Amino acid sequence: MNHFLDIHKTDPAALRSIIDSAAAMKSARQGRSRGAPDDDQPLEGQMVALIFEKPSTRTRVSFDVGVRQMGGQTMLLSGQEMQLGHGETIADTARVLSRYVDLIMIRTFDESVLIEMAEYADVPVINGLTDRTHPCQIMADILTFEEHRGPITGKKVVWSGDGNNVCASFLHAAGQFGFDLTFTGPAQLDPEAEFIELARAAGVRITIERDPHKAVEGADLVVTDTWVSMHDSQSAKERRHNMLRPYQVNSALMAAAKPDALFMHCLPAHREEEATSGVMDGPHSVVFDEAENRLHAQKAVMRWCLGV
Ligand code: CP
Ligand code: NVA
Repeated sequence: MNHFLDIHKTDPAALRSIIDSAAAMKSARQGRSRGAPDDDQPLEGQMVALIFEKPSTRTRVSFDVGVRQMGGQTMLLSGQEMQLGHGETIADTARVLSRYVDLIMIRTFDESVLIEMAEYADVPVINGLTDRTHPCQIMADILTFEEHRGPITGKKVVWSGDGNNVCASFLHAAGQFGFDLTFTGPAQLDPEAEFIELARAAGVRITIERDPHKAVEGADLVVTDTWVSMHDSQSAKERRHNMLRPYQVNSALMAAAKPDALFMHCLPAHREEEATSGVMDGPHSVVFDEAENRLHAQKAVMRWCLGV
């Protein structure tokens, strides 16, 4: 049984096969309406539970549509409406859900919830975002980069802003897919040292550069994300904005990267904060391709988990 808990916990060969399978499934659907079934129906007869303890637009819709395209059925559950939100243990919830469904996707706060769910479930569990990581997003981002620019191996990725959960999964991907990553942001918001060391141990170059304009020199891809994540306290908003303002991705910063550099943002974006509309809607931006590719990448993740 294959859980998809994190990129660094997944074998590089499996990661590559997931990306290739996502690209093949995407191209097989060219010209079809969104609701049309795939030719293959590998999830026929399968039930997928989608549990959300935090808000979501992309993860929720893309998993639901993806399961349906592959012939399966979904059940959307909000943590608050389940007994999970009222004291039933994660372990008991995992055991019970395993009697009803074939696959569990969960978006939660503390990653211990995800890990316990996987430990006690008899069915595969997928990480739909925790406070610490967001692996499905980065699988979509790798697919997106490679569609536009070919293999990501050996390229330079620059993360500008908060060293948050999405940044963490980019670091994991750097080690597994073999690309260099430069982080530029305030020292208080550096990515976790453990994740930096993990990527370095895989042999890729991980650089911390406080000057964003220097950081993006030679960049093939510039990435940012919101300055205040769902798990961050709203009371820290003003302080975080003040620290992060110099790391806004605007047209001057993109002009300092390679001329054909791509710009990514997992969305939802706060326009004119972490990125300007000029960049979001400009020639470097592939943000809506990333959003679309959540669908294709996650379909491939689910097939890999279920071995179908
Ligand atoms: N990028 C992403 O995970 O978006 P949602 O929060 O809308 O799912
Ligand atoms: N870092 C953001 C990502 C949202 C998809 C958050 O955790 O809120």
